[in-house]
Amino acid sequence: MMLPALPIGRHHPWLAPLAGFSDLPFRLLCREYGAAVCVTEMVSAKGLVHASPGTAGLLATAPGDQPLVVQLFGAEAPVLAKAVNMLQDRGFVWFDLNMGCSVRKVLRQGAGAAMLDNIPNALKTARAMIGTAGSGMVGFKLRLCPDEARAPFSRLKDFALRLQDMGAGRLALHPRTAGQGFGGRADRDALKALAECLTIPLMASGDLMSAQDGIRCLDETGADGLMYARGALRNPAVFAAHLRLCRKEELTPQNVDFLRAVISRHIALARDLTQGNAYLWKMRAILPRYVRGLPGARALRNRLCQSDDWHDIEKALDFFWRTAENAI
Ligand SMILES: Cc1cc2nc3c(=O)[nH]c(=O)nc-3n(C[C@H](O)[C@H](O)[C@H](O)COP(=O)(O)O)c2cc1C
Repeated sequence: MMLPALPIGRHHPWLAPLAGFSDLPFRLLCREYGAAVCVTEMVSAKGLVHASPGTAGLLATAPGDQPLVVQLFGAEAPVLAKAVNMLQDRGFVWFDLNMGCSVRKVLRQGAGAAMLDNIPNALKTARAMIGTAGSGMVGFKLRLCPDEARAPFSRLKDFALRLQDMGAGRLALHPRTAGQGFGGRADRDALKALAECLTIPLMASGDLMSAQDGIRCLDETGADGLMYARGALRNPAVFAAHLRLCRKEELTPQNVDFLRAVISRHIALARDLTQGNAYLWKMRAILPRYVRGLPGARALRNRLCQSDDWHDIEKALDFFWRTAENAI
């Protein structure tokens, strides 16, 4: 069966992989606001192969959750190939390998951004994944090579071209080194240089906090598409704003009612699609991002920390909305 290609382009903003956050309820929320493609949180290939508890939950999906790219991390070619194979059996078709994560637990396995320290193994792993998933079905999300914060770009370019020749479907670049974490600024020149030498699509990531940032990044770099990360965590409607800007329409100011609708919808999706208290606790981290900067945001955070059921959360929000009503 011929699969349609993943939508990539200026008019198709993606939701980036976000460990702990790009879960099923959040992905569906972002899709309602116009996210064209969503990427799962990173999933350990080893965890998947060894059926470790917790991994299955990261792969929860639903019929409306398409197109969906599963992001894996790991550094052992046979394990990655096996993981792709197992995912294919469960109906997943698009994959991504994390070559950018700078969390110590991931780096210690030689995975994430550490893959750029061992290019031969990275290429072997990429080949194994592409060999299993098929040409064009796997993307790779990169950071800058460790010595590239300032100048040489040749190592990243050579590596990217090897991935392209091998049958990668697309690349994504968050143009900072792992050592930089989120410090400094994303290097738009590196994005531009990489976009110029690839024939497969390049997705831009990094410092896309608003739709204006996104459009500016596309214009400045010539990247084929982009993925919103922290910008979506702050405002899942960033996708709708992005699409409005693409159509040269004015952005509508966001008021309390708008924010309220976003939050209610996220809660409704979470209650509908998850069980137990795990998501409820997650909401303690999610909701304060939505209301950051508003009067009463800190008090809301404190009240949420004491919330043990959805009723408590609703009560904390009711109190917050009364304070914030005229603030934006
Ligand atoms: C909370 C959080 C979780 C993330 N998890 C992942 C992940 O699982 N896989 C990945 O490749 N990148 C991950 N990233 C990186 C983002 O996808 C993105 O590349 C990065 O945040 C830069 O984009 P931004 O500056 O627009 O947020 C994560 C970022 C954040 C803030």
